[in-house]
Amino acid sequence: MNSSQIIEKIHQLKRERNAVILVHNYQIGEVQDIADYIGDSLGLSVTASKTDADVIVFCGVHFMAETASILSPDKIVLMPDINAGCPMADMITVNALQALKTKHPKAKVVSYVNTTAEVKAESDICCTSSNAIKVVESLKDAEEIIFVPDKYLSHYVSTRTNRNIIPWNGYCPTHVKILPEDILRQKEAYPEAKVIVHPECTPSVIQLADEVLSTSGMCKYAKSSDANETIIGTEIGILYRLSKENPGKKFYPASENAICPNMKLTTLEKVLWSLEDMKYEVKVPEDIQVRAKRAVDKMIGMF
Ligand code: 13P
Ligand code: SF4
Repeated sequence: MNSSQIIEKIHQLKRERNAVILVHNYQIGEVQDIADYIGDSLGLSVTASKTDADVIVFCGVHFMAETASILSPDKIVLMPDINAGCPMADMITVNALQALKTKHPKAKVVSYVNTTAEVKAESDICCTSSNAIKVVESLKDAEEIIFVPDKYLSHYVSTRTNRNIIPWNGYCPTHVKILPEDILRQKEAYPEAKVIVHPECTPSVIQLADEVLSTSGMCKYAKSSDANETIIGTEIGILYRLSKENPGKKFYPASENAICPNMKLTTLEKVLWSLEDMKYEVKVPEDIQVRAKRAVDKMIGMF
């Protein structure tokens, strides 16, 4: 089958199964092109919570599909490749979080959406890269705030808020590959360009940026800003969407090394097989799902 035949079959099966395809901004171009909705973690969570489809095919990584299942436990949530994980999400375990909570009994817990359902279930509220500052600021009475697992996101939030944050030592192995010297080199090559970076980048990269944005924040910025050239400090899959939506503008990756291998596991063929065989289902046990939903709903309810 060639790719247009695969796409036709996907559309046909989507109708038969009453399915919707949700796609993260880092997915490969041809998967982005079959999306019913493409977005960042927050946008995908909100869409998953509102859809009236029976089946959600989630093209992203495991914590994202799990969040969709937490929000819509009665729907069938499928991942085309079940091996697409997020190494950062695996850097905090529920046991480690429980130990941290015992050490800081008065602290409120904010968990980045890049966490397992078990960790979310132990949290007061979730956040994403687009709302982390607002979520932390909303915890007005908290003397201390445990923020897991991303030490760079929590550092960024602590520089923009006046709160006592207890970080965890997690990080994104893809974003740490973007180095300050990469930004400086690209700025020298494209002196007119603006620099936008993701808050998972290291503080020394963030310092060099004009804006710090979630992936969908970057897409909005690209459309609305006057800049004709922009250096992009995040996973390079997003450049496909940026260039497609803004044909007159130029986008340069801060580093060609910023590739998330897990985000590249999903292909058109695997999306088709997923709909054909109704695999691989992601389902969260009810006791965890109910507690995790509280933390995710609290975040969604804020916006
Ligand atoms: P966004 O929510 O900004 O899309 O980020 C998700 C992610 O995994 C970034 O590495
Ligand atoms: Fe996880 Fe980083 Fe990949 Fe995002 S880019 S899914 S944080 S490993």
